[in-house]
Amino acid sequence: MSKTIIVSNRLPIKIQKNNQELTYTPSAGGLATGLGSIYKEGNNIWLGWAGLHLTSEAEKNQVTEDLEKESLKPIFLSEEDVEGFYEGFSNATIWPSFHYFPQYAVYQDIFWESYQQVNQKFAEAILEVCEANDTVWIHDYQLLLVPQLIREKRPHISIGYFQHIPFPSYEIFRLLPWRRELLLGVLGADLVGFHTYDDMRHFLSSVNRLAGIGYFHGEVEMGNRKVVVDAFPMGIDYDKYAKKASSPDTINREVRYRSSLNNEKIILSIDRLDYSKGIKNRLQALEIFFEEYPEYLEKMVLFMVVVPSRDTVPRYQALKTEIDELVGRINGKYGRVSWTPVHYFYRSFPLEALSAFYRMANVALVTPLRDGMNLVCKEYIASRLDQTGVLILSEMAGSSKELSDAILINPNDIKQIVAALHQALTMPKDEQKFHMEIMQNSLKRYNIHHWVKLFLDRLTEVKEQQSYMHTK
Ligand code: G6P
Repeated sequence: MSKTIIVSNRLPIKIQKNNQELTYTPSAGGLATGLGSIYKEGNNIWLGWAGLHLTSEAEKNQVTEDLEKESLKPIFLSEEDVEGFYEGFSNATIWPSFHYFPQYAVYQDIFWESYQQVNQKFAEAILEVCEANDTVWIHDYQLLLVPQLIREKRPHISIGYFQHIPFPSYEIFRLLPWRRELLLGVLGADLVGFHTYDDMRHFLSSVNRLAGIGYFHGEVEMGNRKVVVDAFPMGIDYDKYAKKASSPDTINREVRYRSSLNNEKIILSIDRLDYSKGIKNRLQALEIFFEEYPEYLEKMVLFMVVVPSRDTVPRYQALKTEIDELVGRINGKYGRVSWTPVHYFYRSFPLEALSAFYRMANVALVTPLRDGMNLVCKEYIASRLDQTGVLILSEMAGSSKELSDAILINPNDIKQIVAALHQALTMPKDEQKFHMEIMQNSLKRYNIHHWVKLFLDRLTEVKEQQSYMHTK
């Protein structure tokens, strides 16, 4: 029986070691829920980094054995691997480059060496379990070389690659010293997917101009093989968020949280700590908003959840300090004894708490400078059971291509964010409902299950066409 092998840098489970005891917590992320029904079927399997550093072989074996029951296969990385591959090449070279921050990108040969080695390690782990008729679905920028590493050893296997972050324009991508190797790595796949049409266009343009390979209608000619490139905008598990928003636990939390507020309007922002998320722009806009519209002092609060992320990468540490300072400045300048303008949380929250925040928020303020998709805005929409609420969304997020009923803003235009906030806070309820309903209908339909099926069906189709071409 053939199987599907899912591969991503992180496994859909968090492994921790506390006082010699290993604990496993399933993650609630979009990919984990979307692929949850797939990797547990038959003899399918999900491969990824264990995410924690273990030195003893006995413990590694223990984790491997424990995870096997869950259809998961862990890959263990050394401290040097984490430094060079994860913190280095993935998050200090590719991440800034692909998010249009080339000035933050670090070009270091030792990072590149490590990236190649770890991609090789992933490929070996896949090859250990992979058989002739299997399908391998590789996820995201940490594993750009893996498709080709598998292709070399299993020329006929079905390989899909999906990138969850943007693919930058050719002018940015070409700055990378290892640009050609990265492209050829991805082209080992049969189907390459991005969230948006623009990402796909940028990728094809780089393939053509940097690797000298032609394409026609999204199909790249690789000698005896065709690689299909297309856009597959990722959705969320809509029903899960809608259901959570009506659960007693969520509603109890909302009542509790509201009891410490004074009926102020709530603006919500939720992000991982990342310079691509535009957190500073958002705070700057808020400061100007209070200056221009002092009637909102004591009448409105910003709930700002910043989830700690990559805090060993220097650029992220510096950003944390800047955000702390900005929040401090706004609260210091405008705060009253009985009112704090920014409720700032630097930690992660369980889904029930996030769901309560989504229920409470009159406005969701999503202002990334660049984002592959952004699922927070979709989760907000799914949680608005009474269909009120306004989404302010950056044009630079992939999701803006689908959510044209949001108030779309350019995150670099602070004045425009200020105006959008005012528009959102004064929008009549029937207008809010009109836009919310349109967005809800589209997200209900194009949910995560639809996305998974679309990609995997397309991969099967591409493979069938290839074998037809070979038998002709
Ligand atoms: C983004 C990336 C994912 C990544 C996630 C969390 O969404 O597309 O590949 O897993 O951020 O980042 P981390 O570095 O903690 O895995």
